[in-house]
Amino acid sequence: MAHRHVVVAIDGPAASGKSSTAQWVAQRIGFRHVDSGALYRAATAAQLRRSTNESNWTEEQVCEAARHVKLLPRGTSFSPLIDGENVDDELRGLEVTRHVSRVAAMECVRAWVNDRVREAARDNDIVVDGRDMGTAVFPDATVKVFLVADPWERARRRLVQQLGRSPVDEEIAEETGRLVQRDARDATQTVQAKDAILIDTTFLTQEEQVERIVALVRAVTQREDTTSAVDDDSGPG
Ligand code: CDP
Repeated sequence: MAHRHVVVAIDGPAASGKSSTAQWVAQRIGFRHVDSGALYRAATAAQLRRSTNESNWTEEQVCEAARHVKLLPRGTSFSPLIDGENVDDELRGLEVTRHVSRVAAMECVRAWVNDRVREAARDNDIVVDGRDMGTAVFPDATVKVFLVADPWERARRRLVQQLGRSPVDEEIAEETGRLVQRDARDATQTVQAKDAILIDTTFLTQEEQVERIVALVRAVTQREDTTSAVDDDSGPG
């Protein structure tokens, strides 16, 4: 049987912990991590460098701006660069977060991101996170996980990450509002695959959710190995 690269697809709504979990899982199992959201963010950042006035943006311009973004392997991961420049901090900024859903709704941007992610999977076993990785992009992914968590808890975690301290309730309430709004704007592209395993992380630690996914990947890949060994044994004739 021709070797097929393994894809672990982790999807879920905003700030459900997909990227950090995917990064961690990838390190544990020796795969590379691909963050599809970072590509949408990079396309948005590239367009914001040209014009900050969103009302004038056309789909054509945004896709032309996206061509300045390259996805390159770095360590155990892949990073989007804009004109060769590392832009990790810019991608997580408020401006990009505010505009990214509009950009992600553009068909040509979705096609561009999907091509980049599939390219990465051609030569690597990957853990990829996003919203439609287990449905539109890799419908035959080896393992599919859909991560959810209570919006208040998602907001709290995102703020701890951003502020580096425990947020107060008013801050969490405000961030919850922003997250719920972004969930609504992203709703059409956030799809749980029928064969995805749902993990609610509201009451799980990061270590626990990583452990669960690593265990799932090991169970499924071992099962696949056994099946192909049986297939091979049955051989011709
Ligand atoms: O980390 P967070 O959940 O806040 O967002 P992200 O994964 O960095 O994704 C940023 C934005 O990209 C989302 O709000 C979606 O609009 C878009 N996105 C998408 O449409 N499809 C994906 N597969 C991944 C991200």
